Amino acid sequence: MFTSLQPKILSIVSDKSKSVDTRLGEICELLKNNIPHYDWVGFYFKNGDKPELKLGPYAGAPTDHTIIPFGKGICGQVAVSNQNFVVPDVAAQDNYIACSITVKAEIVVPLFVNGENVGQIDIDSNTPDPFTEEDERFLEFINQEVAKIL
Ligand code: SME
Repeated sequence: MFTSLQPKILSIVSDKSKSVDTRLGEICELLKNNIPHYDWVGFYFKNGDKPELKLGPYAGAPTDHTIIPFGKGICGQVAVSNQNFVVPDVAAQDNYIACSITVKAEIVVPLFVNGENVGQIDIDSNTPDPFTEEDERFLEFINQEVAKIL
C-alpha cells in the first residue's frame, strides 16, 4: 500500500504548475482516500516567529484547532520534542486536543527543513491502535520530499 503510493507522492510534489499549498492538499487527499486507517490528514506549520502551529492544507472534517500553542496537544508536543509521536489510544493521553469524538488514535511526524522543525504531518484514525513503523517511515518519506519544495 505505502510502496504503491510513493511514486504518486513524488509526482504530486514535483508538479511545479501548482502552488505548494495545492500540492500539499493533494497529498492529504491521496492519503485519506487510499489508506483505510487515515481518517483526517493535515499539515501544521510554525506560525511565523510565534511559538505556535498554524493549520495548513488538510483532508477530512474541518477542525476548530487551526492554531495550536507549542507544548499543547500531541501536535504542540511534537513541535518542541522534534520526535515522532504515535498515540495508539488518544483516551490514554492527558495532553491531547480532541478534534472529533470518533478519533481513536493519532500519529504526528515532524517536518524538518535544513535540520529545523518547521511543521508536521498529523493523521487521525477512527481505528484503535492502527499505526506501525511502516506508517512512520512512510510519513518521514513524505515530509522529506515536501521539505524540498518549502
Ligand atoms: N489532536 C491534535 C489536535 C489536532 S487535530 O487532531 C486535527 C493534538 O492533540 O494535538
